Amino acid sequence: MSATDPVTAVAGTNIALVKYWGKRDFALNLPAAGSLSLTLDRLGTRTTVVFDDGDHDRLVLDGAPASAAATARVSAFLDRVRARAESARRALVTTDNSVPTAAGLASSASGFAALALAATRAAGLELPAPELSALARIGSGSAARSIFGGFVEMARGERADGSDAIARPLPEGDGWDVRLVVAITATGPKAIGSTAAMTHTARTSPFYAAWIAAVPADLAAARAAIAARHLPALGAVAERSALRMHAAALAADPAVIYWNPATLAALDCVHTLRARGMSVFFTIDAGPHVKALCRAADADAVTAALRAVPGVSDCLIAAPGPGARLVPAAEEQP
Ligand code: DP6
Repeated sequence: MSATDPVTAVAGTNIALVKYWGKRDFALNLPAAGSLSLTLDRLGTRTTVVFDDGDHDRLVLDGAPASAAATARVSAFLDRVRARAESARRALVTTDNSVPTAAGLASSASGFAALALAATRAAGLELPAPELSALARIGSGSAARSIFGGFVEMARGERADGSDAIARPLPEGDGWDVRLVVAITATGPKAIGSTAAMTHTARTSPFYAAWIAAVPADLAAARAAIAARHLPALGAVAERSALRMHAAALAADPAVIYWNPATLAALDCVHTLRARGMSVFFTIDAGPHVKALCRAADADAVTAALRAVPGVSDCLIAAPGPGARLVPAAEEQP
């Protein structure tokens, strides 16, 4: 049997304004609480999937054969796709991340969103977006959100099978001209991956229960702020959600510390800009980089200020972007 036609999908990463940090189920990767994010127009992934007669799955990541661990994670995900498509065929997966080289910003969010779309289509499945979101979630919790564009809310869900642990777009936020300025404060991979770190936080941090208990109120406040297009209200939620997530991680035993001196200097820079009257707010993920949420009109000034922070090596401006989508075959031509 010959190979299937290649299917290519692209997805933007997303930055959570209400963070996901903890799971209620490991096998289905169900979150312990909901989350809310903004999908970006850059820092994304392009993935091509072909099912063929190979005897194992192969993963080419950014132009080179991927590690055994990365290949195994993708292969386990493809097993889910194969089970749904009732197929046993192995795949060649070619994936490229549009992140600055070695910036430590590579994201499983855009990766599994693009893979979910490309792999299901290559396997002959056409899943509705909510089902695609549930599938992407099994690969990585944050990937469920990158199926959709703009502001997106991920539901914790109640069901044991995870069918309601899916993301949905928040159209009230469509067209809101905000920006995320990403300040890069280190190179190289992060100290500890988010999966291991959130599991360790849940097991050992005395603050974990309080962190999870605080999420529903933050989600409600974020939803209301988006509906009202009130940037200071949304920014306040984003800062406290990030700080509470990191507080829970910092209190784990041993501690999970993602910050470096430039991280704190960048936070200070954001506070200084705000004290001068600018509407700018930070968030921090499982790494040392700082992302600043601001109006489009302020993005250049925020970038200039963050670039001047000692230890900030680069800055880039991202706008709200679309959800995961197929790339027509014609666009694949060089
Ligand atoms: C800090 O989605 O990478 O970015 O589900 O284990 O793959 P897994 O975790 P992942 O965690 C993201 C953590 C975060 C916050 C967020 O994106 O909500």
